[in-house]
Amino acid sequence: MATTLILDKSFEIGDVDDRLYGSFVEHLGRCVYGGIYDREHPDSDDQGFRKDVLNLVRELRVPLVRYPGGNFVSQYDWKDGIGPFENRPKRLDLAWQTVDPNLVGINEFVDWCAKANTKALLAINLGTAGLQQARELLEYVNHPGGTQWSDLRKKHGYEKPHDIKMWCLGNEMDGPWQVGHKTAYEYGRLANETAAMFKSYDNNLEMVLCGSSFYKMPTFPEWEMEALDLAYHNVDYVSLHLYTGNREQDFSRYIASSVGMDSYIETVISACDVIQAKKRGKKQINLSFDEWNVWYRARGENDSDKNTWTIGRHLLEEVYNMEDALVVGTMLNSLIRHADRVKIACLAQLVNVIAPMVAEENGPVRKQTIFYPYMHASQFGRGTSLHVLYNGETYDTKEFENVPFLDTSAVWDKNQDELAIFIVNRRESLVQAAITLGGFGDYEPTEHIILSHRDLAASNSNANPEMVLPKQASKPLKEQEKLAVDLAPRSWNVIRLKKRPLN
Ligand code: AHR
Repeated sequence: MATTLILDKSFEIGDVDDRLYGSFVEHLGRCVYGGIYDREHPDSDDQGFRKDVLNLVRELRVPLVRYPGGNFVSQYDWKDGIGPFENRPKRLDLAWQTVDPNLVGINEFVDWCAKANTKALLAINLGTAGLQQARELLEYVNHPGGTQWSDLRKKHGYEKPHDIKMWCLGNEMDGPWQVGHKTAYEYGRLANETAAMFKSYDNNLEMVLCGSSFYKMPTFPEWEMEALDLAYHNVDYVSLHLYTGNREQDFSRYIASSVGMDSYIETVISACDVIQAKKRGKKQINLSFDEWNVWYRARGENDSDKNTWTIGRHLLEEVYNMEDALVVGTMLNSLIRHADRVKIACLAQLVNVIAPMVAEENGPVRKQTIFYPYMHASQFGRGTSLHVLYNGETYDTKEFENVPFLDTSAVWDKNQDELAIFIVNRRESLVQAAITLGGFGDYEPTEHIILSHRDLAASNSNANPEMVLPKQASKPLKEQEKLAVDLAPRSWNVIRLKKRPLN
């Protein structure tokens, strides 16, 4: 059976929000201490931020970074991380069994964001803390001055408010592992009261309600419905989290993960719409996919570092291989396919901890395999998401039926007159695809980038940092509105086109 993809200028899904390519920095393992921040590293700036890490973050064009957790935030006191360094306490981090020296706090993180050309999405502690701590944090970071907490910020050297626009109301509060775990009712009430308080300060602040931490949680999707029922009027987004993996060493199942992600997103959209209808509400609740990635090897018992209660332990240091990069590509496609409702997404996390880059102690920073699909989507996937119809063979797994052999998305940048098509070939063999480009007759292919490796287990290491690297494939042939593309076995492909200049 021939494989065809059909695209058309009029098949618009919606505008891709830049924040779809966000990431996440948690006080966890070596993400902050030994990742973005390392006073001992020769390539660090005067604040202790690693310049090589900052360069890669800018290369990725990360639009926003969720901070400071994660599980960490549910037992964090933000006041520990402000003021003179010599007065900051060292604290036990009960989420990850480490010690936090509090050398990076909210002010330093905002400084780092400015250097990284990104924005902060701040998470509030709704585990051990609540309204009062959140109220003081808001006053400290966003109020211009003339009050106790805003004047304290000024005294700490930050004359201007940080003006944080987006806030997460806690983290994974449905999870029994969460410090201060709650029922949907307990959480929904607290989240609503906190969000109402924030909106009473500034109605334009955007508030993210915690959805489920995984679509296989026993309380999914009742959790979303119950919590949103309580908080609908004061929140703007519901969060989703998903980590996938290949414990079974079954590639065809693993590479179909985005089918589960699609249906997860669609279920949460339905939950949001049901509550909107129930409330007779005008406000559409959108989605914040604020943790997603591959994560299955470096979990708990497999973490390399058993030294609890130390600073910057080696935790969750997942080494990504070729097949993980393909799965990350399909997850990016899933986000783009739902760009009409998923407005924020954060690849978890940014450095060292389940991350696209590894910062070596006293050494260089290395791009992991997953760096590349993330970079391509962030660099070329801004504009309007278009439907891509697939006409070709499918296969079944234990979990999913009718999995297409090609996983796709497309983004049309109307301002630059550019079109990017992202395709993961799930097949073990080459696929020759014919792509129909309705309305793009005057566009020409400019490049075909491919990421593939004959060994799905191949990864980048210190010894061979470029084992898995994107390459240029020969440009696809285009005639009128038809494009013929060769897709290598098990590969990530970016096909870029640009409008022909008028002579
Ligand atoms: O990203 C690692 C952890 O995964 C986060 O702290 C938590 O929110 C999730 O369970």
